[in-house]
Amino acid sequence: MSRNILVGVGGGIAAYKTCEIVRGLTRSGARVRVAPTPAALRFVGAPTWEALSHAPVETDVFARVDEVLHVELGQWADLILIAPATADLLSRSAAGRADDLLTASLLASRAPVLAAPAMHTAMWENPATAANIQTLRDRGWEFLGPVSGALTGADSGMGRMFDPESIVERALATGRPQDLRGRRIVVTAGGTHEDIDPVRFIGNRSSGRQGIAVAEAARDRGAEVTLIAAHVDAPLPAGVHLVQALSAERLQRSVHEACVGADALVMVAAVCDYRPTRPGAHKLKKHDLGETTSLELTVTPDILAGLTASAERPPVVVGFAAETASGAALERLGTGKRRAKGCDLLVANDVTDGVFGTDENHALLLAADAPPLELHGHKREVADGLLDAVTALLERQSTSTQKEPLS
Ligand code: C5P
Repeated sequence: MSRNILVGVGGGIAAYKTCEIVRGLTRSGARVRVAPTPAALRFVGAPTWEALSHAPVETDVFARVDEVLHVELGQWADLILIAPATADLLSRSAAGRADDLLTASLLASRAPVLAAPAMHTAMWENPATAANIQTLRDRGWEFLGPVSGALTGADSGMGRMFDPESIVERALATGRPQDLRGRRIVVTAGGTHEDIDPVRFIGNRSSGRQGIAVAEAARDRGAEVTLIAAHVDAPLPAGVHLVQALSAERLQRSVHEACVGADALVMVAAVCDYRPTRPGAHKLKKHDLGETTSLELTVTPDILAGLTASAERPPVVVGFAAETASGAALERLGTGKRRAKGCDLLVANDVTDGVFGTDENHALLLAADAPPLELHGHKREVADGLLDAVTALLERQSTSTQKEPLS
């Protein structure tokens, strides 16, 4: 479920932080369009917003009049996020003015509005601003911050914009069904590294992006999420419990600990199947090894299979499988793996065309009692498709006492 988010930018110095907000939203799969006020463009120019949102940017109600842009934008948006919400922008919004593209789009929209005020303490505390905030709150606007801290000048106090990472998190959650509220979900992500010596390791190409997308999607649907991260090359999310587990051995321990009392485990991590049997305590030297050498490897425990056979098995367990196969062959391999590992669901990925390190994925969701479901698109959309199935299984299990895998 991809979202259309209109980011309205007011003319305050905090506009530079909104660049990070736009990046965070697009990275999470949201479609973003930016409507800066004319004053906002004095802080950050239109090309920056266009590059970050991958969409054209206008600020004037008289731009592209033939497209009736304010109505188009207002109706396109599922959510309007205003950051920074300056005193002037709040005042014009409270008065119902429509003197630039942003305020006109706000009037033409029925989407929920989330606003992050930023201004000097004196402006924030002014009764005029307080009255405007109250008016907008009464109309359903939701406010994040401001918070107290250093201001643009020499002084400090209430008026700093809410932390950009948390604004992204709240924007992604606003208006989402909270169908995982009260659930505890454990997600693993990234690839393990198995030490050869203190300098070298065996690893794999996993970037961790799909696992992070599952953790973010579960968080946004109200779950309490534990993200167990091996090596990842993507930003880790806010608003989840983070556990670092860089090797198969550490990951196994962390998964068993985190699964006690959990409702679901989504095992996205790419666990190395082998580890060096005797990792060197010191850096191995080429002159000691000669022209050719070999490395003895020992199989790592199958964490997923071990977990599903253990007392810590959560009611719903999801496995992932990266395969270089497609169509019927992918389905056959995935179904075999789902049964062998004792999971309720398995996401089988065709990685032939290289999904590692990209934002897109295409996969087959395999369940015991449902036909295969194709999941494709941004990794966040794949995550939400998977969580729809997890939610349905959890609801079904709440009405029965069945705890065994549905194979
Ligand atoms: O057998 P394969 O590695 O394809 O299985 C992938 C699934 O099994 C993933 O969910 C992965 O996290 C899990 N796995 C595991 N322990 C291993 C290897 C894979 O839990 N040693």
